[in-house]
Amino acid sequence: EKAGFDHFMLKEIHEQPKAYRDTMRGRVSDDGLSVTLGEIGMSDEQIKGIRKVQIVACGTAYHAGLVGKTIIERLARIPVETDVASEYRYRSPIITPDTLVIVVSQSGETADTLAALREAQRNGARVLAITNVVGSSVAREADHVLITWAGPEIAVASTKAYTSQLIAFYLFGIYLAQTLGTVEQAAVTELLAAMNQLPEQVESVLEQSAVLKQVAESIAKHKNLFFIGRGVDYAVAQEGSLKLKEISYIHSEAYAAGELKHGTLALIEDGIPVIALVTQEELYEKTLSNIKEVKARGAHVLGIANAGSEVEVGKSVDELFAIPKTLPLLSPAISVIPLQLISYYASLAVGNDVDKPRNLAKSVTVE
Ligand code: F6R
Repeated sequence: EKAGFDHFMLKEIHEQPKAYRDTMRGRVSDDGLSVTLGEIGMSDEQIKGIRKVQIVACGTAYHAGLVGKTIIERLARIPVETDVASEYRYRSPIITPDTLVIVVSQSGETADTLAALREAQRNGARVLAITNVVGSSVAREADHVLITWAGPEIAVASTKAYTSQLIAFYLFGIYLAQTLGTVEQAAVTELLAAMNQLPEQVESVLEQSAVLKQVAESIAKHKNLFFIGRGVDYAVAQEGSLKLKEISYIHSEAYAAGELKHGTLALIEDGIPVIALVTQEELYEKTLSNIKEVKARGAHVLGIANAGSEVEVGKSVDELFAIPKTLPLLSPAISVIPLQLISYYASLAVGNDVDKPRNLAKSVTVE
């Protein structure tokens, strides 16, 4: 059932190109000009009435929601808040009938996420569920459902569900933007064409697993490390850090690159690994100067950067892992892949049970 892979996690990492294709299938018009999401049953009037979006989820799904915020704000120009579900209800969130609440859940059974959905509906908001399980509690109770077709995810550490959630957000963001007229057709055409390239681009990262295994083996010798990035790179950094913690038990922290000097830089000492995501061209200069700050304190920096930026980024880092270049907004769908593989191989290197990390359950049905 692991289809020749040593662990479910590795199998699921390798299933991502298929999960991307399956999640996109039937949702992009044949001419590649538009997203068709009639299946979610949201009328144009309902879409035009949305004044605010709140994305609510836990863990990895929350991290997908952080990227979802950027996607929806950039494309549809609607303000978005992203909350951890266990915090959402207790901050007296302002939920109005013109709020769209998006709950994101692989299992569709997470207690806090389900409670947030109910709270939103009690306040008159409509709820869109992005979930991987047809017929789950979240799918049954939501007003609108967008299924991620990642297929069953067995490993406790979520991989293909996360990236499929990203794909769902891209599709939904484009759909909103087209309905609202907030993006030019040329931009949509370009996004959809670039999304079609993602599965092959992910394949090419998977082919470089051996390099990432070496990186992971050196990281596994450390007790602490940092992930840094700006914008969507920061969102991916948070997911990379969670993944590494949960299966390798190595402590790490994800930090907004520009925020380090406000305190955390004090923790940077000789030899500490820093994984820096540098995929956002308009932020290169700023992130590279943050990399200099940590290198000056002795950090060993691995840069995850776009192919083609090897010279520009390469000169500021100790090691560089190049990923295929895509549009800046789409880069999380590629840049997270090396982080998943690093976590997987780090977990193996320390001898953990990769698929069943200690203290964790696949589905958290208590609050
Ligand atoms: C981490 C992980 C968890 C889940 C979280 C939400 O790899 O799997 O953080 O993402 O428990 O679960 P779902 O998406 O089922 O609501």
